Amino acid sequence: MPDQGTPACASCHGAQVQGAGTSPRLAGQPQEYLLRQIEVFKNGTRGNAPVTTAVAHTLNADQARAVAAYLQSR
Ligand code: HEC
Repeated sequence: MPDQGTPACASCHGAQVQGAGTSPRLAGQPQEYLLRQIEVFKNGTRGNAPVTTAVAHTLNADQARAVAAYLQSR
């Protein structure tokens, strides 16, 4: 969603969101877990990842739920 400032998750997490370098695997992780991580990036409790924190802020609640559901299905 470039218009909203959201970069492609795959640009860091790997083409198949299988994980790449310091970016962990997202594919197949449980939706609720992924959603919780997006939330804690947003509220600053998980603060060691400035980039994903910035990305998380561009997602509204519906978009966060949708991307977490999609990633679980991968
Ligand atoms: C510029 C690189 C970059 C982009 C773009 C990016 N991420 Fe990340 N992401 C990271 C890094 C690095 C980490 C590891 C953070 C840490 O060490 O805690 C991470 C961690 C995560 C985690 C935690 C995974 C776990 O197992 O705890 C989730 C969930 C996540 N990203 C989702 C996303 C989503 C969804 C998008 C796209 C909307 C996205 N990321 C885009 C770099 C990125």
